[in-house]
Amino acid sequence: MKVMVVGNGAREHALAWKIRQSRDVSDLYVAPGNAGTSAMATNLPVSATDLEGLAQAALHHGVDFTVVGPETPLAAGIVDCFQERGLAIFGPTRKAARIEGSKVFAKELMVRHGIPTGRAEVFDSYDKACSYVKAQPLPIVVKADGLAAGKGVTVAKSVEQAVRALKECMVERVFGPAGDRVLVEECLVGREVSVFVFTDGESMSPMVAACDYKRAHDGDEGPNTGGMGSYSPPEFWSAALEREIQERIMRPTVRALAQQGCPFKGILYGGIMLTENGPQVVEFNCRLGDPETQVILPRLSSDLVEILLAVTEGRLNKTPIEWSAEACVGVVMASGGYPGSYETGFPIAGLPQAERRGLVFHGGTRVAREGAPGVLSDGGRVLTVVGKGQSLRQARAQAYEGVAQVHFEGGFYRKDIAAGI
Ligand code: AMP
Ligand code: GLY
Repeated sequence: MKVMVVGNGAREHALAWKIRQSRDVSDLYVAPGNAGTSAMATNLPVSATDLEGLAQAALHHGVDFTVVGPETPLAAGIVDCFQERGLAIFGPTRKAARIEGSKVFAKELMVRHGIPTGRAEVFDSYDKACSYVKAQPLPIVVKADGLAAGKGVTVAKSVEQAVRALKECMVERVFGPAGDRVLVEECLVGREVSVFVFTDGESMSPMVAACDYKRAHDGDEGPNTGGMGSYSPPEFWSAALEREIQERIMRPTVRALAQQGCPFKGILYGGIMLTENGPQVVEFNCRLGDPETQVILPRLSSDLVEILLAVTEGRLNKTPIEWSAEACVGVVMASGGYPGSYETGFPIAGLPQAERRGLVFHGGTRVAREGAPGVLSDGGRVLTVVGKGQSLRQARAQAYEGVAQVHFEGGFYRKDIAAGI
C-alpha cells in the first residue's frame, strides 16, 4: 500500500514512524513533513490546509490511504473532499469534526445527551456576555466557539480579564468568525487527562490515556502552548477510571454523534477533568494530540495501519488493539521565545547521539541542504524526545538523557516533565 500522512509536526513524524512499521506499507509520503519524516518517507511540498492540492497529490502518486494529523484540514472537510474523489482517508467528516471545530456544537450535544461537562452559556452579543460574566463566580472560562489554534480559551481570574477576553473575541475579532460566538463556562477544578479511542462510529477501541503539560515553563508557569511534554500511562490511571470515562463519556458521545446523523470515524480525543464530582469533559478533539501521540504510539503493540483501515471500513469490532504496559515520557524542545515570536534556521547538533538513547520525533525542522546531513530549526516546537521504560521514572531518565545530547541556539525545554512521580 501507498500511504500519505498529512501534517508537519512531531505528531505526524510519530505517525509516519509507526505506519512505516506496518507490513502492508510499501511507499510512504508526508505532506508537507519535516526533516525527520524526510529520512523515512517522501515529503511532498503541499500544505496541510491545501485540500485540493492534497487530493491532487494523492491521485498523482497513486496513494491508497491517507491519514490526517491536524484538526484544521479535518474541520475544513478534507475527508469529504477525498471521499468525493473515491480516495480512502482516515478521519471524521466535516460534520463529525464539529465536535472539535465548534465548542457550541459540542456543548449542546453533551447537554442534550447527559454527558458530564461544565455548565456553560452561549453568547453572540458582547453586551449580554459581559453582564453574564459579572454575575458569575470566579474564575470563569471564556471560549471562542471555533478553531483558534489553541489560543481561544481564557481561564479568567478577574471580571476585567474575562471582559478583555470577550472583547478580543467578539469586538476586535482576533480569531475572526471563530470568535463571533463564545461560551462562558464554569471553571472545573481537578487533574486533567487526555484520553483517546479509535472508533468507526459504532465500535470503540480500548482507551489510552496521557498527561500533557500546556504551560511553557517549569512548575506550570508562563503562557499556554501547544504542549511542552507528556507521559503515558498516567500514574493515577486505573481500570475503574477507564471504565467510568468510557461508559459515561466516550461511548455516549460516539452514540450521540451517530444519532445526530454524523457518525464519527477516527480518533476521538477527550480532554477530561477529574473533578470531585467525577470526570467531566473540558473539550473534545477530532484527532490525536500533540505531544500525546509521541508517547502513546510507541505503546501500541498492534499494527497501526490495520487499525486505521478497520476504522475507515467500519469493522473495528473485529480488529484486536493492544497497548503495552510500558511507560513513555516525551520532552518537547522549543525555539527561544515560543509560544511568542521566535527565530528559526539554527543548526541542531547532537541528533544522532540523542537517537541512540531514545526516540526523537521532529516537529519544526528542515533539512539544511538537500542530500546533506544537517538539520535546522524551523518552528516553535522543534523536537519531542521520548524515553521508554518499565516505569515512568526509567522512561523519564531516558528522555532527558536524549535531550541532553541536543543543542540549538536559544532552544529550551521543561525540566519537570513526569517529575516527582
Ligand atoms: P482547550 O483549548 O479547550 O483545550 O482549553 C485549553 C485549556 O484550558 C484546557 O486544557 C484546560 O486546561 C483549560 N480549560 C478549558 N476549559 C476549562 C474549564 N471549564 N475549567 C478549567 N480549565 C479549563
Ligand atoms: N496536546 C493538546 C492538543 O493536541 O490539542
